[in-house]
Amino acid sequence: MKTEITNIAARQIWDSRGRPTVEVDVTLAGGGQGRAAAPAGASRGDHEAIDLRDGGERFGGKGVDSAVEAVRTILAPVLLGADALDQAAIDAGISEADGTPNKARCGGNATVALSLAVAWAAAAAEGLPLWRYLAGDRPVRLPMPEIQIFGGGAHAGRRTDVQDFMVMAPRAGSVRRALEITADVYHEAGALMEEAGLLAGTADEGGWWPNFDSNEQALDMLVRAIDRSGHEPGEDVFISLDIAANELRNGDGYLLPLDDARLDGAAMVDRVVDWAERYPILSIEDPVGQDDLPHMAQATQRLGASVQLIGDDILVTSADRVATAAAAGACNALLVKVNQAGTVSEAKAAFDAARARGWATIVSARSGETEDLSIAHLATGWDAGQIKVGSFARSERMAKWNELLRIEEAMGGEARFAGADGLPASVAAALRR
Ligand code: PGA
Ligand code: ZN
Repeated sequence: MKTEITNIAARQIWDSRGRPTVEVDVTLAGGGQGRAAAPAGASRGDHEAIDLRDGGERFGGKGVDSAVEAVRTILAPVLLGADALDQAAIDAGISEADGTPNKARCGGNATVALSLAVAWAAAAAEGLPLWRYLAGDRPVRLPMPEIQIFGGGAHAGRRTDVQDFMVMAPRAGSVRRALEITADVYHEAGALMEEAGLLAGTADEGGWWPNFDSNEQALDMLVRAIDRSGHEPGEDVFISLDIAANELRNGDGYLLPLDDARLDGAAMVDRVVDWAERYPILSIEDPVGQDDLPHMAQATQRLGASVQLIGDDILVTSADRVATAAAAGACNALLVKVNQAGTVSEAKAAFDAARARGWATIVSARSGETEDLSIAHLATGWDAGQIKVGSFARSERMAKWNELLRIEEAMGGEARFAGADGLPASVAAALRR
């Protein structure tokens, strides 16, 4: 059998923060090869798959020798001889060999690199780009990018309480055009920051590292940057926020040091509703913490008709958590991070659970990345509708944007940009009015 796995190699490589991570190579009998590397989060939910780290003194405890060893001694023996085309069986084998609910034995970093590498190898064996292999015969759209302009929170020494200030261009018509518009806004924002003496460098995902006095100053600056770049805020370009409120939890409320505010859940919801009413905001991720379903439901109820409410730390790419949140009326979109689930199939199950409920889906990078291109292919091949990679600088980010350009080119006349249709139906309809 040409697609039988004949070799699995694992190694330590380095991520975009200079931290160790796991890379896996998979070789098939017919010569097909696949390679993938694990990303790493900085604002992680407690319910996501565990990254196995060595601890101790070396590399700040972040070594991955144990995870690499787990691929070699626990996972590879189970997968050698298996058919790479049967991703479901591959991932079931990985989960079974790990034997824990959160990949604690082998590490989600080990399992995600292996699972993705098998998908790449299978696509190679079929002579297809990964996105096409994943799409099968279904027509798919290019995802609308969500791109960071200012980085804050855990990605920039907590210079702003809100973690990501991003832009979306739902009417761009193509990835190519969406990236051109983003480039205009990104560079204009940098110039404005420099003029105002507020620029302190770039953050973990390539966005500007700001010296703002309040979260609203960032929103004001972003609107000005869009405007001065020659695009119309709330028409061509919209704001998307990742509050990453899990990081702001303080007792049973939330602490926003920059705004000198301690808010209970209801007041936190009031705060984001107020922002959404006063700024051209199209999308808000994690406005409350990972277990605060009641307030996520409140936010969804108040804003969901015209704003996308994304669950990241609250859903952690889990089909079960999607079901629970949906039953509570919380969220209308799922952030999909394969390493939160640990395998491609488990991430896809969460994706399918979200789509079955009419939610939007956003395939996402982590703040710690490598040159791995998997998410550009997953977002396209699964027809996710949206993709979030970080900012518009640093090659671990640009590699993904550039890959989307190549995919768009390869589709030729068939290429369709998801645009507003990638958003929850209510939000897309509101945009059309
Ligand atoms: P992380 O953050 O990769 O640092 O966890 C990204 C996000 O919150 O979306
Ligand atoms: Zn997030």
